[in-house]
Amino acid sequence: MTYLAQGTRVGIRRIGLDDRTEFLTLNRQSADLLARWMPGIPIVTDEAFEGYMARFDHPANEGFVLCRLDTGAIVGRANLNNIIRGTRQDGTLGYCAYSSTTGRGYMTEGLRLLVGYAFGELGLHRVEANIQPSNTPSLNLIKRVGFRKEGYSPGFQFIDGAWRDHERWAVTVE
Ligand SMILES: CC(C)(COP(=O)(O)OP(=O)(O)OC[C@H]1O[C@@H](n2cnc3c(N)ncnc32)[C@H](O)[C@@H]1OP(=O)(O)O)[C@@H](O)C(=O)NCCC(=O)NCCS
Repeated sequence: MTYLAQGTRVGIRRIGLDDRTEFLTLNRQSADLLARWMPGIPIVTDEAFEGYMARFDHPANEGFVLCRLDTGAIVGRANLNNIIRGTRQDGTLGYCAYSSTTGRGYMTEGLRLLVGYAFGELGLHRVEANIQPSNTPSLNLIKRVGFRKEGYSPGFQFIDGAWRDHERWAVTVE
């Protein structure tokens, strides 16, 4: 397997149509973990997968999977959404692990690789992540990856039946 970037245990690559079965299985198994934190419809059907993949036909969105180097198994997913070029060069990071892969440090390694790729090959200057204040694992993760808190947005995004406040975190290439 060829990766865009790889560390000691994790490699990152673009998600592909061939990932359908493994990706849907992981999302189905982790539906309870993801429902409270991830926006949009759960990616648990063929139709939802195709909708998710169609997002990456647009150059403003990039979709990745984080994989174990030893087995190639997917351990997480990450997207860079709403990439703005010109004088902004920034994008919004979304991510999740799965119930069978969380709590092992894979996401920290994978997101560090992804941010490096965003600043390198993708030429971005800033990557942001928006996180609910009660999502402690996600806040701990993003701090480990080097993001800093920029602000707080009440009612930022509709998730799991309500408009949820989010903390806004970001990292710039400097
Ligand atoms: C947010 C989320 C991605 C965080 O994932 P995570 O598994 O905690 O992150 P990592 O893979 O970096 O694992 C870190 C944990 O593994 C532990 N760990 C175990 N073995 C490890 C190892 N060999 N190396 C490093 N860390 C290790 C760390 O101690 C840490 O645990 P702690 O936070 O309790 O101290 C995950 O909880 C998730 O997917 N949640 C649901 C979706 C979600 O919230 N997405 C984000 C929306 S903003």
